[in-house]
Amino acid sequence: MSPTREELLQWDREVVWHAFTQMAEYEPVVFERGDGCILTDIHGSKFIDGVSSLWCNIHGHRHPRLDDAIRDQLERVAHVTSLGASNSTTIQLAKRLVDLAPTSLGHVFFSDDGATAIEVALKMAFQYWHQRRDPRPEKNGYVAFENAYHGDTLGSVSVGGVARFHQMFGPLLFDVVRSPAPDMYRLPVGVTRESACGYYLAQLDQLLGQHAEKVAALVIEPLVQAAAGMLVHPPGFLQGVRELTRKYDILLIADEVAVGMGRTGTMLACEQENVAPDFLCLAKGLTGGYLPLAATLTTNEVWQAFLGD
Ligand SMILES: Cc1ncc(COP(=O)(O)O)c(C=O)c1O
Repeated sequence: MSPTREELLQWDREVVWHAFTQMAEYEPVVFERGDGCILTDIHGSKFIDGVSSLWCNIHGHRHPRLDDAIRDQLERVAHVTSLGASNSTTIQLAKRLVDLAPTSLGHVFFSDDGATAIEVALKMAFQYWHQRRDPRPEKNGYVAFENAYHGDTLGSVSVGGVARFHQMFGPLLFDVVRSPAPDMYRLPVGVTRESACGYYLAQLDQLLGQHAEKVAALVIEPLVQAAAGMLVHPPGFLQGVRELTRKYDILLIADEVAVGMGRTGTMLACEQENVAPDFLCLAKGLTGGYLPLAATLTTNEVWQAFLGD
């Protein structure tokens, strides 16, 4: 028997622990249908899904092509492991992603969500420096930006920089070298919109000059730091960061979990500044919110460091 509306509301308050929600004050909002950008709750009230279910449902709810694709998949197989095995859907999606990404990104590692895509990139970067032909195991740290948000697993929290979310977990986290967030809205005194890019790049240059020998990778949300409050970077900043990571021999991790899959007007945000990172992390819009799935794309250089007998 289906639960009554009252039971649903009560259980939602008592049993479901909602993310980023103060449960002492939570008033249930229970949706039961979605159509395009409209969500309908159990009382029949309609809401505009103005946040695309937190940046995931980028094609809307119950999109006919996506619904058909899911049905078609269910007719064949629900899940197969990727440990030493594959299936045609995985292979076709990987191929499509490398075709969409900058040509240097030719290999795709799938995982489950944005945080995991970042964990994968952090670990691959670390392992790359240990395993490449000319190993540099001392390069085992990371550079990230103030107010960065990369997810809620411990590695992604370590590179995250939003004090309200991350501060109390300090004792569990690894140290990160932190660069100021290039914020075009709250510019420091004496910095103009025109000088902002050079100003923030100069600070990063100085920081990398001090720490590069011990840094495996720099992680950035390209163009927009979404969770920081839609903090828009100055034009040219991403390209400048790519040049600095090359200058200091540091791998670049582009976290496109929020900005990828068309969210900034191009399929990938990196395209807008002709940047090819060493790692590209995708999730959220990748499945239009239909399934938890993430991808970490990387280069042949990294891939080669993992091959052996
Ligand atoms: C830039 C960025 N990276 C990573 C994540 C984490 O993604 P997920 O919630 O799927 O773990 C988010 C989530 O908002 C994000 O905005």
